[in-house]
Amino acid sequence: MATTKRMVSLSSNILRHNNSNITSVTNRASSSWWSHVEMGPPDAILGVTEAYKRDTNPKKINLGVGAYRDDNGKPFVLPSVLEAEDRMRAKNLDKEYAPIAGSPEFCKLSISLALGDDSEHVKNGVNATLQGISGTGSLRIGAAFLHKFFPGNKVVYLPTPSWGNHTPIFKHSGLDVKQYRYYDPKTCGFDFQGALEDISKLPENSIILFHACAHNPTGVDPKPEQWAEISHVVKKRKLFPFFDMAYQGFASGDVTRDAFAVRHFVKEGHHIALTQSYAKNMGLYGERAGAFSLITGSKEEAATTMSQLKILVRPMYSNPPIHGARIVTEILSDSALRNKWLKDVKGMADRIISMRTQLRDNLKKEGSSRNWSHITDQIGMFCFTGMNPQQSERLTKEFSIYLTKDGRISMAGVTSKNVSYLAHGIHEVTK
Ligand code: LMR
Repeated sequence: MATTKRMVSLSSNILRHNNSNITSVTNRASSSWWSHVEMGPPDAILGVTEAYKRDTNPKKINLGVGAYRDDNGKPFVLPSVLEAEDRMRAKNLDKEYAPIAGSPEFCKLSISLALGDDSEHVKNGVNATLQGISGTGSLRIGAAFLHKFFPGNKVVYLPTPSWGNHTPIFKHSGLDVKQYRYYDPKTCGFDFQGALEDISKLPENSIILFHACAHNPTGVDPKPEQWAEISHVVKKRKLFPFFDMAYQGFASGDVTRDAFAVRHFVKEGHHIALTQSYAKNMGLYGERAGAFSLITGSKEEAATTMSQLKILVRPMYSNPPIHGARIVTEILSDSALRNKWLKDVKGMADRIISMRTQLRDNLKKEGSSRNWSHITDQIGMFCFTGMNPQQSERLTKEFSIYLTKDGRISMAGVTSKNVSYLAHGIHEVTK
């Protein structure tokens, strides 16, 4: 009897003990592992789209994110892309993994698009090019490589201002970020003297980032002769130029013209880093097709750097997605389809350019006495209007026109149907 009692009390002790363990786990789980996590702010660019989607005003316009719209305000799938996909379907392709560095054909076509089909560097095999996850992922891999292997100062100098994601990408990779002058708010144009002055004082052996064309967010690019001078100063200061080329073809409608800076620097002997994105110029936003390249000193260096890039990629995402890269490959490798694509790009660039004129003219019609010539002087997807954060906020609150707080508007979202409403709103908040 005593034994039985002891056993009962023992087992109820065990039960209590187990229960208390369960309870403490449940308590921890219900009070949660994550109760200390604070709410983060919405993304400065992509968060604008979230707010736009919640708005019920039928007149609302989203000029936040840089994503091309047709003249009806609808997302646009390029006819050349549709044709590429038709051709792909007919080939009954499999869905096997891509190599770690992505499709070699895609990489070759991408670097040739950037440097030109006749590029000596490509012919000599001194480029290390890998397929990245669009522009952002390519920048991230490039940044990780620089963090690990760059032999100089692990500091990236960005233009002021720069794309909102540049700083987080480089910092996330462990690099420090500093600035050089770029945009002149007084003229809404390029501060050439300020940029040259700052660049000429940067510590030697640092990394400097350039937007190859269609500078985001300002739409302000150096002229060819200014690029030539910048290249000279960069060389003198022994800086490492990193080009972010997210808009080749999208700025002027001409892929060769938009590659001027990149090709000039390479011709001048700079060993550059380069990121490319097909989000804008092929409208492949969600396909995440892009590339990262290093122009190295030799074929051997191209091989060693490539081996290390692959080692960085493998634990991050293993290998890149195949669909977008196949579309790009299909388009760039066939001359008829490539020409069709070049027409598509030009069509998008031209529509944006004509919207710039219409916006400027409509502001005049509204009676605005401000000088809006920068709207047509700037190039690419964005217009840096010069509106301050208060004016930008009023435009959103009072007119349901969504834009980033820095006054950047995506010209790609302006259409012949909404341009007068936009001009009216801008005039109301700036008069
Ligand atoms: C933009 O600046 O709006 C685009 O480059 C999209 C993005 O990811 O920020």
